Amino acid sequence: MPSSQFAQKERYRYLNGFGSYHESEAIEGALPVGANSPQKPPYGLYAEKLSGTAFTAPRHENQQTWMYRILPTCGHANFEPREHSTYNTNPENKPYEKIHHIPNQLRWDPFDMDETVDWVHSLHLVAGAGDPTMKTGLGMYIYAAGKDMDAHEAFYSADGDFLIVPQHGVLDIQTEFGHIFVRPNEICVIPRGVKYRVTLPEGPVRGYILELYQGHFTLPELGPIGSNGLANARDFQAPVAAFEEDTSSTWHILCKFAGHLFSAKQTHTPFDVVAWHGNYYPYKYDLGRFNTIGTISYDHPDPSIFTVLTAQSDHPGTAIADFVIFPPRWLVAEDTFRPPWYHRNTMSEFMGLIQGEYDAKTAGGFQPAGASLHNVMAGHGPDAATHKKASEADLKPAKVGAGSMAFMFESCLMVGVTDWGLRKCKKVQEDYNAESWEPLKPRFKRPEKKSE
Ligand SMILES: [Fe+2]
Repeated sequence: MPSSQFAQKERYRYLNGFGSYHESEAIEGALPVGANSPQKPPYGLYAEKLSGTAFTAPRHENQQTWMYRILPTCGHANFEPREHSTYNTNPENKPYEKIHHIPNQLRWDPFDMDETVDWVHSLHLVAGAGDPTMKTGLGMYIYAAGKDMDAHEAFYSADGDFLIVPQHGVLDIQTEFGHIFVRPNEICVIPRGVKYRVTLPEGPVRGYILELYQGHFTLPELGPIGSNGLANARDFQAPVAAFEEDTSSTWHILCKFAGHLFSAKQTHTPFDVVAWHGNYYPYKYDLGRFNTIGTISYDHPDPSIFTVLTAQSDHPGTAIADFVIFPPRWLVAEDTFRPPWYHRNTMSEFMGLIQGEYDAKTAGGFQPAGASLHNVMAGHGPDAATHKKASEADLKPAKVGAGSMAFMFESCLMVGVTDWGLRKCKKVQEDYNAESWEPLKPRFKRPEKKSE
């Protein structure tokens, strides 16, 4: 079935297409014709440009949007620091001092729900590399929230693009561009700077976030696969323009800036964009629509065939961040050890599980809402139980991963773990290796010497 069967009904309409140049107006005629900044924009709106790349970025990378809004963004009081010493994405401006680089394989039990906080205060930086002030690297977060954001609050991150992977619960996200409804098995990308407000119509939520401090996500190249396959461009959905009128209430604009939280007051809603056009916008994607490719002869291909979105480094083919999924699929390979092989990787691999059981870890330690990190050159692979099962399996065509969705944030960077990720969350499994791989027994038998 090329789409997920969601328990919650879709609430909104969308514009379809990845990286498309879209335009949307909530009132007919609100978009100026031709000119981006006419002397008098329609209906007394203000024109405001949001740049997601440098003005002079090459045409194929250039991302920007023109907004036509009731008041421009700049009309607010000064930003003041908030929760300066406790905010959980706050690495004291020196991430290298608070981030632990360790060669061990790590695995986490399911992260706790927290019904006492809203979206903004639900963000826990678990691991990362680089520095948002240098626009390098990435951060990996767990979120767990149980409260709507305040009715007059909006949030944005100046640090990077958020790729949100819900594991539990539904996010109803009001953005400057319109509304997005995100359910488990969907993902959502909110680009740097875009303001939004998260409410939780079905109660508590939990999930994962990859924050990309540099560049933007693109679809991976398809090479010999051809012009369709993996995540197809037409299945990405951007919001349609929707606005509210409020120029009298007090609003708080919360901002994550270099990992610190700030807040500024203003007396108008930030969700006042009546029309917009451009190619820099939030979007969502149903992972159930992924067209999974795999071997139909023998061997287990590299997991790069499961890449949904990628953000390349300056070296083509080497990603700062790949978002990779392991969807339900048929395994038909003949004379093949079908799970992933044992390996060591120059890339680091952070994995999570949205639902079900991941087919390379069947001994029970890798659970939905948990995670694992196999850092640069850390050996890993199927646990002993999976290895035994797969080595002896009857190699008939078999469906794996039914009802399951595991994913990976893969990066060419060495990933460090925060204090919260290593200690405060109290979820690190001390016996990951002992349980998974130390039970593996030698099977080597020296061939008998032929008699002369
Ligand atoms: Fe791996």
